[in-house]
Amino acid sequence: MLLNGRPSRTIWPAAGADAVTVLDQRALPHRVESLVLRSVDDAVHAIADMAVRGAPLIGVTAAYGLALQARADAGDAALQRAAGQLEASRPTAVNLAWAVRRMLAELMRCPVGERAPRAWRLAAQLADDDVAVNERLGEHGVALLRALASRAPNRPLNVLTHCNAGWLATVDWGTALAPVYRAQAEGLAVHVWVDETRPRNQGASLTAFELREQGVPHTVIADNAGGHLMQRDQVDAVIVGCDRVTASGDVANKIGTYLKALAARDCGVPFWVAMPLSTLDRSLHDGLAEIPIEQRRAREVTHLAGRASDGSTVEVQLVPDGTPALNPAFDVTPARLVSALITEHGVVPATREGLSSLFDVRQREPIDGR
Ligand code: MRU
Repeated sequence: MLLNGRPSRTIWPAAGADAVTVLDQRALPHRVESLVLRSVDDAVHAIADMAVRGAPLIGVTAAYGLALQARADAGDAALQRAAGQLEASRPTAVNLAWAVRRMLAELMRCPVGERAPRAWRLAAQLADDDVAVNERLGEHGVALLRALASRAPNRPLNVLTHCNAGWLATVDWGTALAPVYRAQAEGLAVHVWVDETRPRNQGASLTAFELREQGVPHTVIADNAGGHLMQRDQVDAVIVGCDRVTASGDVANKIGTYLKALAARDCGVPFWVAMPLSTLDRSLHDGLAEIPIEQRRAREVTHLAGRASDGSTVEVQLVPDGTPALNPAFDVTPARLVSALITEHGVVPATREGLSSLFDVRQREPIDGR
């Protein structure tokens, strides 16, 4: 997708293959900055501090983190330690464990001396695969939007999204926004309602940024406004991303997603979840009971950062001194509230049967490899 008018990715290997560079999302939307990762510790810190975020992108960053470790020390113990560090850096999005375990399994099969170049190639392959998967997911998703548009041909479609599941959350294209970008490419008029997404405001800062860069009409709304708009027929569909989906179709995504799904159900608005298969955790069956929910620092709730009128970045305190705050970063939307899952292999119901239909003998090995 476009950054300053140029096609860009969120992560790219540095020349010489001794480092990897990422777009530093902590600086957006006010500054475009990159960050060079030279070690597994750099990768762990970038993921935990959310310089990179979004389920697919943290998976690819972790893969490169392991590749950086393999350059420093490719022995079994060192790789296993690095894998453990990376997996622990953020607990909810399963793409991270998925990418690390795939890398580790491949590397353990290789002689130690061949592991570093092999790891680098594997990480690059995961990055390219992510782009291809999201592009396909966009093609399946745009068919849903086309069908909606045929019922309302004389106005733009209004899609509501939560958090950032655009290209900044992936290597390119995004998941929830991939159908929107395809629609734009096909000349289908779409306007996006962007939930600001407290506490870290990924909607206001990242989704608004990338939609503006791409020239897609959009409007930022307070998180609490979505239900009101749905009641007044101003939302044709909700499309969100996801961080982990169980075998029964329960969806963990950014905190606040569940409330959007409830409002959508009450108002008869389709609630679609864009899910690359790397986000499916077939080992889990009950999302509420089993998906680990990341708890982040209270300060993300009690304080807010933004650009001051002199251009500097400032952080301000919102609450009275000493006020306690709780910051669960994700919630679980039960499968019964999900209208459909948009995957790279097609659109399926959020049910055990729907998800099983994605697996045939050919696909089982690569998808189910964790
Ligand atoms: O905490 P974040 O910003 O990593 O959370 C991201 C989300 O919840 C996204 O909606 C989800 O990862 C899907 S990204 C394609």
